[in-house]
Amino acid sequence: MANDPRAAAHPIPPFPAGFLWGVSTSAHQIEGAADAREPSVWDAFTAEPGRVKDGSTAAVACDHYHRHTEDVALLAGLGVDAYRFSVSWPRVNSPGGLDFYDRLVDELLAAGVRPVPTLFHWDLPVDLDWLERDTASRFAEYSSTVVGRLGDRVQKWITLNEPAEHTLLGHALGTHAPGKQLLFDALPVAHHQLLAHGLAVQALRAAGAGDIGIANSHGPTWPASQEPADLEAAAFYDVLLNRLFAEPLLLGEYPEGLGDLMPGDVAADLKVISEPLDWYGINYYAPTRVGAPQGTEIEFGGITMPAELPFSVQEIEGVPVTDFGWPVVPEGLTELLTTFRDRYGDRLPPVVITENGCSYEGLDDQARIAYLDGHLRALHRALEAGVDVRGYFVWSLLDNFEWAEGYARRFGLVHVDFATQERTPKASYAWLRDVLGAQRTRTRG
Ligand code: FCB
Repeated sequence: MANDPRAAAHPIPPFPAGFLWGVSTSAHQIEGAADAREPSVWDAFTAEPGRVKDGSTAAVACDHYHRHTEDVALLAGLGVDAYRFSVSWPRVNSPGGLDFYDRLVDELLAAGVRPVPTLFHWDLPVDLDWLERDTASRFAEYSSTVVGRLGDRVQKWITLNEPAEHTLLGHALGTHAPGKQLLFDALPVAHHQLLAHGLAVQALRAAGAGDIGIANSHGPTWPASQEPADLEAAAFYDVLLNRLFAEPLLLGEYPEGLGDLMPGDVAADLKVISEPLDWYGINYYAPTRVGAPQGTEIEFGGITMPAELPFSVQEIEGVPVTDFGWPVVPEGLTELLTTFRDRYGDRLPPVVITENGCSYEGLDDQARIAYLDGHLRALHRALEAGVDVRGYFVWSLLDNFEWAEGYARRFGLVHVDFATQERTPKASYAWLRDVLGAQRTRTRG
């Protein structure tokens, strides 16, 4: 906080002029107004008993669809440069659906906030399926429709959010929509999303868009020990979370022969997938400690992992955890960024942190302030180490529908009372506003 003597003694070091500060949300998690759009796989999933822990749905969520003006005012009050939101494909498929984003973009620009839309954040129209190759072409068509309407005012675009989680949680383990438990038979879902990304990059560029990225989730993988079985399991997990999604995009190839398991003309598809990016978005939350399989089912971070997986996810000891149980390891962000720079060199375009945040209860959220403070310093260390990072987006503006956890996890800088829809900025909102103000003063001066 501004009046915290520690913060005054050690202000967050200045980031480069032009560094892009923002916050992120996603359509399904905040918009509500489910009656003003087609259903998505998430509507079907939440309708199945037992899928969402508190039995809730996102039919109303933060009612952002009706309260966007108030939410844009919160963004303006925070002083962010940019707002990352997602466009709901099922809403765009409904008559008048694009009008909502058209108004939102105008309101953001009027408030001096740059709109940064993500074209897919997991809410696939319910009649589509990422196991089908055709979904990639449909995504490109939908992307053309959106850029055709918003491209005169939107410069910065994100194709997909976290295809890794959507593949692993949604199609391999089944803890997210569409709830499939295909384990390694889910690999085509990764390929088709990556292909969709590449086709969308082409569609956006054909429409004149020139600042295109993706938001991939990545994190360091820490082996549980130096034993060969643990090292091997950790390396495999690193392939699944990091390399499987980074390397087709950045290098035009799948790691470790995984291309042989993908459907279609993989060599031709990789040319599309590796269309050069203007920047590379990374969502970072925590590292993962991974060891050899233990032959038993494991519950971790709200996810059940079956015994047959070739690795086991283990607790990182000696670090604080969020209310979600996720470890708080800011230095993991520095490690991740320097590892990516070392691995991919010139093939890695400028990086933007497209999500980073934590779930904690309460309005006086000092733990969130500590989390964000630590991660901003860690990000600055990556800059000092020579990684080209151009922006940072906090997850999230508002408490919202946190997927299979329902409303039980609060990631917002702004508290939402879901009974009344009242918004109340938390201590972290004021803290971030002051940090951004200080950054502007220092980079100007
Ligand atoms: C990310 C998702 C985002 C939110 C945060 C907590 O994996 O992209 O929608 O759920 O985690």
